Amino acid sequence: MSSGSAPHNQLESTLLIRRGQTAIRRVSCSRPIALALADGIITKTSDVFDYGCGHGSDIRFLRANHIHADGWDPHYRPEEKATPAQVVNLSYVLNVIESLAERDETLLQAFALAKQVLIIAVRVESPVLDGDEYADGILTSRGTFQKIYGQAEFREYVETKLQKRTHVAALGVVYVFKDEEAEARYVASRAFTRRLEYRTDLIADFKKNNVAKHFVNLANRLGRLPLAEEFPKYPKLLESFGSPKRIERLTLGLINHSAFQGSRDQRREDILTYLAMLRLENIKPPPIAKLPVSIQSDIKAIWKTYGEALKEGEEFLFTIGKPEVVANMCATCPVGKHLPSHLYVHRSAEDELPPLLRVLLFGAKRIVGEVPYDLVKFAKDGRAVSLLLYKDFDGDPHPALLRSVKVFLPKATFDVREYFASDNPPILHRKETFVLPNYPHFQTFKRLSEQEETLGLLSAPDIGYRRLWDNLLLARGLRIENHNLLNVAPT
Ligand SMILES: C[S@@+](CC[C@H](N)C(=O)[O-])C[C@H]1O[C@@H](n2cnc3c(N)ncnc32)[C@H](O)[C@@H]1O
Repeated sequence: MSSGSAPHNQLESTLLIRRGQTAIRRVSCSRPIALALADGIITKTSDVFDYGCGHGSDIRFLRANHIHADGWDPHYRPEEKATPAQVVNLSYVLNVIESLAERDETLLQAFALAKQVLIIAVRVESPVLDGDEYADGILTSRGTFQKIYGQAEFREYVETKLQKRTHVAALGVVYVFKDEEAEARYVASRAFTRRLEYRTDLIADFKKNNVAKHFVNLANRLGRLPLAEEFPKYPKLLESFGSPKRIERLTLGLINHSAFQGSRDQRREDILTYLAMLRLENIKPPPIAKLPVSIQSDIKAIWKTYGEALKEGEEFLFTIGKPEVVANMCATCPVGKHLPSHLYVHRSAEDELPPLLRVLLFGAKRIVGEVPYDLVKFAKDGRAVSLLLYKDFDGDPHPALLRSVKVFLPKATFDVREYFASDNPPILHRKETFVLPNYPHFQTFKRLSEQEETLGLLSAPDIGYRRLWDNLLLARGLRIENHNLLNVAPT
């Protein structure tokens, strides 16, 4: 176990640099730039300045994508001028600077150039082989200097020097905003992304689907949402669109009556989630006029005043600290696999989580940023959220755990446990329970679980680890092929 250590990233492992002599050449873009594009920090209309740009591969990548970009590097582009830009990128530069004073100055200069936001990336704890201690960094056997940060140390350093809060994009990558509106918009985009309102593809599918049309007609006739038992093809609808909550929202979006309570509740939850996220980030909620227009009109429709919405947002956030509320939320959560003290949910079903659990997950990602994972594991007392990565979740009938990043929410710390080298890792069963019924492999997963259940395999003790499970299959003369349980033919 490595406390607070960063998962080693393949791209980053190519980043061994001889300061000022050899910089990295890349074919596409760096991870920080890819994250900033995915997070909407860099858009088509942004101008970007790459401070310490090395050979300039990120500049070339951005320009090739019609995004205005320039950069400066003391060794590779010394003739260029450092100019202010909306977005400034300072990636993997601080690591290579040996002098503390120069590091501070570089950070301050880069921030001074940023009109809206500064992206900062550093290497965080990951093995640098054959390193000797040197100053406060590591001198590798090639004579290259690398200051390797701990994630918390990195954030603290940046926050102290710039007197600004950091937003974690991933381990070793943070955004620091200069513009408060841009900051609030960024948090809003995290609160609302992938929510139904933005899933126009799903809405279009629902409109076209024949079973859905019948369901909407029935809703119109009844003047309310039909119960599942009133609509025999409900399971079909569930299979195509995932969850009752989602079907409800899609239907309410199409039906023709004023009782819009369901989607109203949903919008209310979204806004409370957003306000809670702002508070978690310690961001003063922006004046209502600065919010996206759709949110403004929702607030006006749902609360009498913005002040009331803010008050309810505070109360909502307060409930996060109450274990019994979180436990109840987990217990009644309509998605995921329920175990006595934990709830497991596949990331494809995150949108269907109740707002409180979405905020807990958001809180965890504030601490570790975006790490690769398949399942989220909520401790039902609300104290920890783990992001679990498996080996081939879809393809392996019983995927092995590769890495668990466990975030302790009250302390804002995390642990990484690696299982890559384990010959007896924890494995998963009943994969269909983690996903929604419209997940592409749901039926395949379910069929296998039924076969396993029929043979009594799932009630055998200690099947949660690879070796014991493999031994059990062997002892029973069974093997699994393409998610099918087969008898091994006698030889
Ligand atoms: C590891 S490279 C990173 C290059 C580029 N940002 C990237 O991510 O590909 C580190 C770069 O920092 C530059 N550098 C060193 N000291 C610097 C300083 N004080 N200010 C700005 N850049 C510096 C080096 O010349 C080198 O090109």
